[in-house]
Amino acid sequence: MRDGSERREERAPAERRLLSSRLPGFHARTLAERRAWLAEAFGLDEAELGAILDEGGLSIQQADKTIENVLGRFALPFAAVVNLRVDGRETLAPMVVEEPSVVAAASNAARIARAGGGFSTQTDEPLTIAQILLQGVADPERAAEAVQAERQELLAEADRAVPGLVARGGGARDVETRDLGSGLFAVHVLVDCRDAMGANLANTVAESLGDRVAALTGGRAVLRILSNLADRRLVRVHVRIPPDALAAEAQTGAVVRDGIVLASRFAELDPYRAATHNKGIMNGVDAVVVATGNDWRAVEAGAHAYAARRGRYEPLCTWSAGPDGTLVGRLEMPLAVGTVGGAQRAHPMARLALRLAGVQSARELASLIASVGMASNLAALRALVTDGIQRGHMALHARQVALAAGAQGDEVERVARRIAAAGEVCLERAHSELEALRRERTTAGH
Ligand code: MEV
Repeated sequence: MRDGSERREERAPAERRLLSSRLPGFHARTLAERRAWLAEAFGLDEAELGAILDEGGLSIQQADKTIENVLGRFALPFAAVVNLRVDGRETLAPMVVEEPSVVAAASNAARIARAGGGFSTQTDEPLTIAQILLQGVADPERAAEAVQAERQELLAEADRAVPGLVARGGGARDVETRDLGSGLFAVHVLVDCRDAMGANLANTVAESLGDRVAALTGGRAVLRILSNLADRRLVRVHVRIPPDALAAEAQTGAVVRDGIVLASRFAELDPYRAATHNKGIMNGVDAVVVATGNDWRAVEAGAHAYAARRGRYEPLCTWSAGPDGTLVGRLEMPLAVGTVGGAQRAHPMARLALRLAGVQSARELASLIASVGMASNLAALRALVTDGIQRGHMALHARQVALAAGAQGDEVERVARRIAAAGEVCLERAHSELEALRRERTTAGH
């Protein structure tokens, strides 16, 4: 298809809705039990599901056709965030991530957020910016007028370049101009990409309008490409949490709430802290973006450019105390993601991920992703202002270290517990604990 768009019937079906995402003890079940639950909850064939999950979705032959110079595949864990409620909808969030505790932390914060009804979201229309960047525009004011005088014709020409998108209800919506100084000039065409991420669509539009825009402005079209600063495609998340739900072992909910508000203030005042604060948000965002076959580099570029939009790097999510004492969270960020497109169609794991997410549109997917981002931020801040993150993180990291030391089967948990309890989560200690465990078992066996 010329515009690189996909037809509606190719979308991942969301056949069965989850009744509740509240799954106490899900993490303590075995892998086989979790898969059996998933198959039952979503009406999937357990054997088929197992085959996709074991294979990682992509055969070596498919991988060889996906990029160049392929040598193999690189596997990462695929997991589900539980306890999520987004806009009143019970949902799981699929995640692909290598960092221990990201899934657990988001699930825990999602449980806490339920006490206030869960996450509420609002999304913009899925507008992607196609940019035409010109050089040698001698009179920017006249150029802007000339472009606006031809606005309707430019929109019509853009639509002719993406007929598949227009047939699905999308298309070019507006034209804007920006004088960049020194004869450099930008023309933006806003393209409603419906359920596509929109890079191919916007690039097609930018390329098809380049010559016409150059003639109108008297300049030369140098670059014709989308902008990843997707600030016309924002998602906003809001949450209110009663303080009791935030209480930790040694702190009351009100103390934890105040700590989170203070942590948020630090991120507002200090870009060094804001970068780490936003990294915590992106822990959740990227993991779902990757799982659903979306372009995480585009999402990252957009998120950080948006965080710096006022000339200073700022947090994407902030926390305050409401007049009734609740903790109030607000997140706003651009999210250019799709539910139709190359990877979503071609990659069985991405198709499965969309099915678990149960989303019906790119906007719903953006709402889910941003909510998981907020959950990740909440979990990180709550941990930081109570125990610090190392306690929980190290306990999980210990498993990886135990594996690296050669632990197998139930040895992994046992060695992990020993090195975590000793406060020495390192390979050397894991080796010695593994040896000790094996010696104990041999002795007990005799
Ligand atoms: C670690 O992956 C993320 C955190 O550093 C985020 C934060 O500090 O807010 C814990």
